[in-house]
Amino acid sequence: TDVKRISVPQLMAYKGQKKIVSLTAYNAPIARLLDEHLDMILVGDSTAMVGYALPNTLTITAEQMAFHAAAVVRCTQRACVIVDMPFGSYQESLEQAFRNCAMAMATSGCDGIKMEGGAALAPTTRFLVERGIPVLAHVGLMPQYVNTMGGFKAQGMTQESADRILNDALAHEQAGAFGVVLEGVAEGLARHITEKLSIPTIGIGGSPDCDGQVLVTEDILGLSGARIPKFAKQFADVGALISQAVGQYAGDVRSGAFPTLDNCFGVKK
Ligand code: KIV
Ligand code: NA
Repeated sequence: TDVKRISVPQLMAYKGQKKIVSLTAYNAPIARLLDEHLDMILVGDSTAMVGYALPNTLTITAEQMAFHAAAVVRCTQRACVIVDMPFGSYQESLEQAFRNCAMAMATSGCDGIKMEGGAALAPTTRFLVERGIPVLAHVGLMPQYVNTMGGFKAQGMTQESADRILNDALAHEQAGAFGVVLEGVAEGLARHITEKLSIPTIGIGGSPDCDGQVLVTEDILGLSGARIPKFAKQFADVGALISQAVGQYAGDVRSGAFPTLDNCFGVKK
């Protein structure tokens, strides 16, 4: 039977009705497991840190993101798939943004893109949306701004900062964004923005009152190493399970318990 993928307009209609539930996926094994449970899968540039062990997200390319997105789209059929546009792939000009977003969408068949940026990037949102590319805006703590922020710090703690983030979110809404990710912001601000906007807000370090929630999958599964951010919650220790299985495999190979002749070809019975 044909399962129909959740569309961007369908996600927008969730506002005030039901939560948008989202997680990241960068590859087939994880995406396959997430698909039936989620409304939206984000192919996040956090794969730079989580999947490539880089110190920040700045050095991953649009081509790399497009290939990750293609893998995710190929093995899912239900969740709406949104790909993150990485640092340097959209900030230069409207034309550059469109070219790279169109490349990512054409390479992967994903449903839309996400990009970080305040009100200064709203004209880019408008340019893309008017040309058929759904845009999920991302304001507040923007990891691509790690060097101007001087680290990964929660945002919107002062009135001035909170006003600016609200203005950023409103600018992207007016420009046609289908939703806004609110990352690492003061809870009251996330709640306030959620009330002000007619498009869904998706929190990660936002507020329980956001219209949706996104986290990095490896963080909730115990695959991110020892420490996870305050805004995350570990729901399982898959890391321990993998370690145990790999330990058993290694022991069996070393002891000769695996492989047996049952695992070999051309053995006369
Ligand atoms: O790259 C990412 O994973 C994100 C988050 C919103 C989870 O941008
Ligand atoms: Na990201």
